[in-house]
Amino acid sequence: METGSIPPHVPQHLAYPFDHQLDPLFKIDPHKRISEIIEQFPEGIFYSTCRGGFWVITGYNAYCKIARNPAIFSSKSLVIPPHKSSSDSIPITIDPPQHAKYRAPLMAAFGPAKVQTMQDSIRTLINQLIDQVIDQRACNFIEAVAEPLPIIFFMQLMGLPLERKEEFRSWAVEALSCASEAERLPYLKKVDALFTQIITERQQQAENDLISQIIAMQIDARPITTDEVQGICRVLFFAGLDTVVNAIAYGIRHLAGSADLQQNIRKNPEIAPAVVDEMLRCYSFVNTGRMLTRDFEFQNLQLKKGEMVFLCNAAADRDPLAFKNPEQFDLDREGPRHVAFNTGPHQCIGSNLARMELKILYQEWCKRIENFHLDTESPPTFISGVVLGMQNLHIKW
Ligand code: HEM
Repeated sequence: METGSIPPHVPQHLAYPFDHQLDPLFKIDPHKRISEIIEQFPEGIFYSTCRGGFWVITGYNAYCKIARNPAIFSSKSLVIPPHKSSSDSIPITIDPPQHAKYRAPLMAAFGPAKVQTMQDSIRTLINQLIDQVIDQRACNFIEAVAEPLPIIFFMQLMGLPLERKEEFRSWAVEALSCASEAERLPYLKKVDALFTQIITERQQQAENDLISQIIAMQIDARPITTDEVQGICRVLFFAGLDTVVNAIAYGIRHLAGSADLQQNIRKNPEIAPAVVDEMLRCYSFVNTGRMLTRDFEFQNLQLKKGEMVFLCNAAADRDPLAFKNPEQFDLDREGPRHVAFNTGPHQCIGSNLARMELKILYQEWCKRIENFHLDTESPPTFISGVVLGMQNLHIKW
């Protein structure tokens, strides 16, 4: 791990060489590693000497303050070290007040009413996937269900060619786990080229899909530009092809280790929404970055203009000052809302869809698959990066 020196404004005891992209322990057990880091820095903030230096936020309160203060903590650059690409990822890399005009029309496409209409198609798809594996009594759950469920559903929604789903998934995984911007760039270019082609086709002939709806959007009472459509598609591609895959995988891994919780969901499927949210808190996995717009005093520390901040959602959701016994899964938990979907202006737009997919999956899987458990001969494997992903999950029943 390449590390640099400690700048004079950083207290020595808060400096530590942590590289979220390359940390080898993330590949063994990401949330165990997160818990170790939290314990090491009870202040909820430390300074990593890797990647040119950046602040790491692990405390829940510090996380919320930063996520809700985009004037000081801008999302114009999310990657560390900062890299301002020529193209925006809309709406994530747009700060308020501009941000709202892009977010509002997208919210309608992913709002609760819209997602409610998707319920039956999600249930049907889940049952088709279960039909394919139920008699095998074992599977790599990532390949069998965690990937196809959200990816097929999202690609159908967007109007992307389903026969290319494995190829697109590999672009998303590669781009999100690359250690540097130079390695990531080829994948970003592939995604851009894909959408350039599809957007051109839909501009000539609209279809009944999300890309056509985005092309028809009005931004501030004017038609959206092609660049803006491209920027939105870029964000949706990575959100749609990666996030829910991991949420499902962490949830099923936990359930595979808890016959009681499986049985509880089987008998009381109405508890599934609460299971979804406690699972998201316990195994929060999408982290993000922000850049300081000016020098700023924060928790008695001097943060400098241009410095990067790594917002570690996975750690904030396990902060013992916010959540009692944070490593335990507790359906009766009291306390603040988790930040697995972030908080503040950039709170996840796809959360309704993600929650719906997770809820139905837990219900249907537990109903139809009796007593599933981990295959102890093939333990889960993980991918390190901004997103703490799972690569393989072998289960038996
Ligand atoms: C369990 C699954 C998911 C998790 C944990 C998750 C997490 C997040 C997080 C943490 C952010 C904030 C990023 C930042 O502030 O830098 C975010 C933003 C966003 N997510 Fe998700 N996401 C999930 C699923 C989805 C899905 C399925 C979609 C759509 C297909 C989606 C679309 C978006 C969009 C468009 C934003 C940007 C919102 C804005 O900037 O206003 N997400 N998500």
